[in-house]
Amino acid sequence: MKIFMTGGTGFVGSFLSRELVHRGHEVTILTRRTTPTAPAHPRIAYVTGDPTAAGDWMTKVPGHDWVINLAGASIFSYWTEKKKKEIYDSRILSTRHLVRAIAQGEGRTVLCSTSAPGYYGDRGEELLTEGSSPGDDFLSQVARDWETEALKAQDLGLRVVITRFGIVLGQGRWAPGSSGSPGSTRWIRRGPICFCLSTRKFPDRSTSAPPTRCVIGNWPRPWAGLWAAPAL
Ligand SMILES: NC(=O)c1ccc[n+]([C@@H]2O[C@H](COP(=O)([O-])OP(=O)(O)OC[C@H]3O[C@@H](n4cnc5c(N)ncnc54)[C@H](OP(=O)(O)O)[C@@H]3O)[C@@H](O)[C@H]2O)c1
Repeated sequence: MKIFMTGGTGFVGSFLSRELVHRGHEVTILTRRTTPTAPAHPRIAYVTGDPTAAGDWMTKVPGHDWVINLAGASIFSYWTEKKKKEIYDSRILSTRHLVRAIAQGEGRTVLCSTSAPGYYGDRGEELLTEGSSPGDDFLSQVARDWETEALKAQDLGLRVVITRFGIVLGQGRWAPGSSGSPGSTRWIRRGPICFCLSTRKFPDRSTSAPPTRCVIGNWPRPWAGLWAAPAL
């Protein structure tokens, strides 16, 4: 299959692109970088462009079987108004342009677009499902508008897959306390997520996170090696 990806140079995207090419797929990554060096593979091609702005890159989208949308500025920083705008625009505008680009094609593309459990807001230990109502804080608004933009592809008769990732852990990155109270998080591992995406084993709506928070002290020992630290 031919796959177009935004955010393919990032933590999830670089791992996922490698998974996809190892399964024989061809991946085209949209990046703002003029000389991306990784991931490198003969079946990975790069298109330079900024997904938050309409541009020539949009002409490269039609003809792909899957479009995977992972672009988004990191939320792990001090939230100035400028930063909040970047967090918002890098997701909402990127998704809007991507759907417009897909609309120029022949209508066989599946759009797989990321979201996050921030959609639900901080709900303590409430058990949440994909049918639960959204929250009303900044990240909830971002997630809601992000998903709304992606779902516009349904008006084109296309399948849209929305994946709300929990905090993704893997070699080179961990982020405790970033979802909910300090010292706890709802984490998932990058490998299984990318396996499911690369084999297309994803329902149309999913929240990839465990039902309860995992306090740092309870992180199981096998995961400790992921960030080269002992299990506490
Ligand atoms: N990792 C997690 O724990 C987690 C949890 C929930 C949801 N998600 C979502 O999953 C997606 C992938 O996560 P990730 O951890 O792989 O992210 P990442 O490593 O930060 O990479 C995101 C990619 O988005 C692009 N990007 C960054 N800032 C941008 C901006 N201002 N405008 C346009 N594009 C920008 C970058 O691509 P270029 O520099 O190549 O243009 C970058 O490679 C993100 O949308 C994230 O919000 C991640």
